[in-house]
Amino acid sequence: MSMPMLVFAACVFWLAAVAFAALPVTYIFGDSLTDVGNNNFLQYSLAKSNYPWYGIDYSGGQATGRFSNGKTIGDFISAKLGIPSPPAYLSASQNLDALLKGVNYASGGAGILNDTGLYFIQRLSFDDQINNFKKTKEVIKANVGEVAANKHCNEATYFVGIGSNDYVNNFLQPFLADGQQYTHDEFIELLMSTLDQQLQSLYQLGARKLVFHGLGPLGCIPSQRVKSKKGQCLKRVNEWILQFNSNVQKLINTLNHRLPNAKFVFADTYPLVLDLIDNPSTYGFKVSNTSCCNVDTSIGGLCLPNSKVCSNRHEFVFWDAFHPSDAANAILAEKFFSLLFISARAAPAPAPSPSP
Ligand SMILES: *[C@@H]1O[C@H](CO)[C@@H](O)[C@H](O)[C@H]1NC(C)=O
Ligand SMILES: *[C@@H]1O[C@H](CO)[C@@H](O)[C@H](O)[C@H]1NC(C)=O
Repeated sequence: MSMPMLVFAACVFWLAAVAFAALPVTYIFGDSLTDVGNNNFLQYSLAKSNYPWYGIDYSGGQATGRFSNGKTIGDFISAKLGIPSPPAYLSASQNLDALLKGVNYASGGAGILNDTGLYFIQRLSFDDQINNFKKTKEVIKANVGEVAANKHCNEATYFVGIGSNDYVNNFLQPFLADGQQYTHDEFIELLMSTLDQQLQSLYQLGARKLVFHGLGPLGCIPSQRVKSKKGQCLKRVNEWILQFNSNVQKLINTLNHRLPNAKFVFADTYPLVLDLIDNPSTYGFKVSNTSCCNVDTSIGGLCLPNSKVCSNRHEFVFWDAFHPSDAANAILAEKFFSLLFISARAAPAPAPSPSP
């Protein structure tokens, strides 16, 4: 067994322990794939989804600020962990009880880089999100003391899913500086050195158990397909994403060696998402090359109130030009979980006992 495989096997044990713990505490960082309403609080943000038809299949049929017709992958994963989906940080920033149980810092339009998603006017970049976690820890510390606050932060689980917008709303936009200023290799360097600092900041604040979700095949999302002649996936974009994922994986391995007690895991969701797109019928879907909501990709690709929405929403992998449908998120969360737990069961050493 190779060294990276051993590290991976060791890391998934705590994940299994997390799943069986009575009430796991999770802190979530990310973009529109995981935002549960932070952007609702950003008055001037253009990256919003708190209007119909978002949420049409959510409980009550209400738009919540999730960029989906229903739930996000994070919502489904929380359900699997047996906890309510952590609330948006901006809805709970003064609520000690909520902060202790876990909150969600994700913000639509956010990226690793500060200038990603510039034209959304407002969004919380990964740096902003880390800063909000720092404030969270200060509130906790003021209430329970430094030792208990550190212990709390060491024991929590951190989910990070970020980077899609550094492509879709930065590097792949011809009119933005980063796509013109850098070659892709240089851009990756910039992303990795920034992410290295960011993950180390989280570690300094107490994060030990962290899952980083790799990026999906962005060349196949509807907003990219429309740039091709016949609606096919953009091969070059997918190659870039694979390069991003493999570099993050290397970074995570390095951090695990460099930072004592760090148990960071890279979750490779790319093949899962690609399989869903390539073989939709295997999973009960009919369409994976265009979105259920008939979006105007020339003005963005979100599902605006005047858009026409398909009636067979569960048959579409994509809800709008960027985001998977509720039905696809359910499948992806399921696959993601079985991937990790099959690895955990197949590994040789005993799992640590679940915490109370
Ligand atoms: C990004 O913004 C944060 C504050 O939001 C700042 O601390 C950080 O230095 C900025 N990073 C860069 C590279 O400008
Ligand atoms: C999606 O694929 C179907 C058949 O597989 C094809 O008829 C349709 O034109 C494609 N749609 C787009 C938007 O590329």
